[in-house]
Amino acid sequence: MKDLFERIVKDKGPLGKWAKQAEGYYVFPKLEGPISNRMKFNGKEVLTWSINDYLGLANHPEIRKVDAENAKEYGMAYPMGARMMSGHTKYHEQLERECAEFVSKESAYLVNFGYQGMVSAIDALVTKNDVIVYDMDSHACIIDGVRLHQGKRFTFKHNDMESFEKNLVRATKIAEEHNGGILVISEGVFGMRGEQGKLKEIIALKEKYNFRLLVDDAHGFGTLGKTGAGAGEEQGVQDDIDVYFATFAKSMAGFGGFFAADSDVIQYLQYNMRSQMFAKSLPMTMVKGALKRLDMIRTMPELRDKLWENVRGLQNGLKEKGFNIGKTNTCVTPVFLEGDIPEAMALVNDLRENHRVFCSIVVYPVIPKGMILLRLIPTAAHNLDDVSETIIAFSSIREKLEKGIYKRIGSAMLSSVQ
Ligand SMILES: Cc1ncc(COP(=O)(O)O)c(C=O)c1O
Repeated sequence: MKDLFERIVKDKGPLGKWAKQAEGYYVFPKLEGPISNRMKFNGKEVLTWSINDYLGLANHPEIRKVDAENAKEYGMAYPMGARMMSGHTKYHEQLERECAEFVSKESAYLVNFGYQGMVSAIDALVTKNDVIVYDMDSHACIIDGVRLHQGKRFTFKHNDMESFEKNLVRATKIAEEHNGGILVISEGVFGMRGEQGKLKEIIALKEKYNFRLLVDDAHGFGTLGKTGAGAGEEQGVQDDIDVYFATFAKSMAGFGGFFAADSDVIQYLQYNMRSQMFAKSLPMTMVKGALKRLDMIRTMPELRDKLWENVRGLQNGLKEKGFNIGKTNTCVTPVFLEGDIPEAMALVNDLRENHRVFCSIVVYPVIPKGMILLRLIPTAAHNLDDVSETIIAFSSIREKLEKGIYKRIGSAMLSSVQ
């Protein structure tokens, strides 16, 4: 018999095995100072493009003031206990009513973290007789929710409607055999590459097949649609989303999230979503802070206008310079370059140290081998000077990449830490 920790010490996992080379710089970097377009990294100011503070609320003076007042009045403890037992307040209910109204649904229910909420909601919505059909590129919280499912599940190729329908046919057969139903799951916005989920096309198939649709709109909420109600509003199909989810951790610059649906469904989630039934309720400071944030999203469309001015400036500027920004049709701005992992390390190092531009980097196995994805998140806190500076920096690093300069530096960097 083995000691349980033998494996853990030897095999640190697909990401953990890079800890020695990457920790503190490429992963687990420490960004310091108030959340804004310019923060400090390793003591130096950098232009920050890696924070999902889409509407620039994180450090907005009104938000800072209200958060400080709420913290003074309630502290971080109140209310104590799970909602079901002792952690319930009229403000939790008020926030639920306002969230539901904002996304045009009958009711809503709060969750403490989007991730755990999604895992738990999927678990609650299906039984072993039901079948799940979900996009292959789904966020980890959806994948982990599906892992709890004891019945059949099918993935479809990312945003591929032919593959979706093929799997829907399979799911229908099995659901009929087991007298179960079908839950389809998509994201409103796929957060890595910035493509919207094809909600309209998925929903069109409701005419032919019997299924319910759950949409994770973490990145769409507050950024897309005429009022900021998200990808469903943007695509004109909000009413046909059966269960809508958004986190407060992105455009709301807070934490927590909510599910919104018909009252019967929400009541079911309230009594069956284990991550909420058996966990402490969302702290009041955050609940009242979320009410303020939602109010600003509703009443200050200029925040969304500013965001989109920066998104357009950045995406058009990159395209004009011939960068490949994939198929994004949202704020998330991916830049695809060709190169291996050592090259990616050298390139990001140059970008951060010499150009003072900080963005996230994604490499294999998240994207195909030989590709480097630099992911930029424009916000309302950026300005067009930031955009110009970044495009100049990107043009410079692309030139060096193409000349093979990073290949040499990257290999040397890697061997020095091995
Ligand atoms: C698509 C998507 N769903 C869910 C989550 C998790 O939300 P939270 O940070 O509130 O746990 C994220 C956060 O990264 C996300 O991008």
